[in-house]
Amino acid sequence: MKLIEVKDYQEMSQVAADYLLSKVKKSKNVTLGLATGGTPQGLYEVLIHDHQQNGTSYQYVSSFNLDEYIGLSGKHPNSYYHYMNDNLFKHIDIDSENTHIPSGKAADPAKECEAYDEKIRSHGGIDLQILGIGSNGHIGFNEPGTSFESNTHIVELAESTREANARYFDSIDDVPTHAITMGISSIMKSKEILLLVSGEAKQAAMKKLVEGKISEDFPASILNQHDHVTVIADEEALALVKGLEFLNR
Ligand code: GLP
Repeated sequence: MKLIEVKDYQEMSQVAADYLLSKVKKSKNVTLGLATGGTPQGLYEVLIHDHQQNGTSYQYVSSFNLDEYIGLSGKHPNSYYHYMNDNLFKHIDIDSENTHIPSGKAADPAKECEAYDEKIRSHGGIDLQILGIGSNGHIGFNEPGTSFESNTHIVELAESTREANARYFDSIDDVPTHAITMGISSIMKSKEILLLVSGEAKQAAMKKLVEGKISEDFPASILNQHDHVTVIADEEALALVKGLEFLNR
């Protein structure tokens, strides 16, 4: 796990964008794994700005999002489908046919899960997966206790996750109770992973991650076993791990 320490959210977003852009420029038809939440918003802003200023094209890029709330249609303002269009897709030249987000309204959710993994496989897998981390260590919506062997599946959201995401809804009662998420095994199949960590709320998670104890109780810990993970973390997120000897092992 390689760690890039940055000053703040802004620098994290810029460094992440540079990283992603170097992939897009090197291989036009790269397959990206994309995340939602507050963390990657700054990254997407930099990508949009770059597209407008420098014309970087996403014409042949494909993307797969990590997750979606069950019960929200793409039109719902809090769906991740809506988030991705609003925060990135509608501002760049990516072909909507090449963007993939699990459907939160699938008639047969189990079938949707299987089909999602199959679609990723048929694209030759994800070249670069962008990840954020929940304060309880979740990646995608894989909550503590999720099997490391899991493929794309339906999850019941932890109360702490619903509380953390309630800021986007009118009230916590409106936050869906379930989601569809790429599984841990699906995520670990990505050829490369970029994990973004920013702010005080992630300090404890960051500490646990770098301490390196691998346990299903802390889903992100599995990333220690992937051989191509880069973590970009800001000073605030790293406050509890300063001085620990763990980095770049
Ligand atoms: C959300 C998403 C995750 C995200 C995480 C952290 O619930 N499902 O993909 O990484 O929780 O969110 P944030 O970046 O807003 O802190």
